[in-house]
Amino acid sequence: MKEKVIAICPGSFDPVTYGHLDIITRAANMFYKVIVVVASNSTKNCSFTPDERVEMIKKCIPEIENVSVVHYGGLLADYAAETGATAIIKGLRAMSDFEYEFQMALTNKKLNPNVETLFLTTATENMYLSSSMVKQIASMGGDISSFVPEVIRQDIINRIQK
Ligand code: PNS
Repeated sequence: MKEKVIAICPGSFDPVTYGHLDIITRAANMFYKVIVVVASNSTKNCSFTPDERVEMIKKCIPEIENVSVVHYGGLLADYAAETGATAIIKGLRAMSDFEYEFQMALTNKKLNPNVETLFLTTATENMYLSSSMVKQIASMGGDISSFVPEVIRQDIINRIQK
């Protein structure tokens, strides 16, 4: 790998989970700089505003010095071009993620040929973890402690159970 590669970790992060944090941490160990991008997914109705999602991620990773967290409302391919990022890092869980992720990777490559999408296999314990599952469990008063860090747990419960 070339030195000083800037990588982007994009997602809705509504909210961030241990699954996302594992991918972000592993990307931070591989790349010079990692930018976590809270991006818009037009197919999702989010429970948290983009700024809230940025703040929740920051609360969870205060100690990783080569990681920054931003919100970007436009195309990811444009953000990569603006920042000089040449890698997009995504976590891949089960095969069910594959077609959707493959489609996004090819689209981003078409829009910005300088950017490569790389997939990290999710840790086995996060295989079936998703933000929507966390919200569903929280909405029914279930225990979400194995899915999200303690620092954001109450924020999620307050929002989802209101
Ligand atoms: O966590 P998600 O919802 O699976 O992440 C999807 C996300 C937000 C990364 C994707 O929808 C995205 O890149 N949105 C930004 C707008 C964009 O670039 N759309 C074209 C991507 S193919």
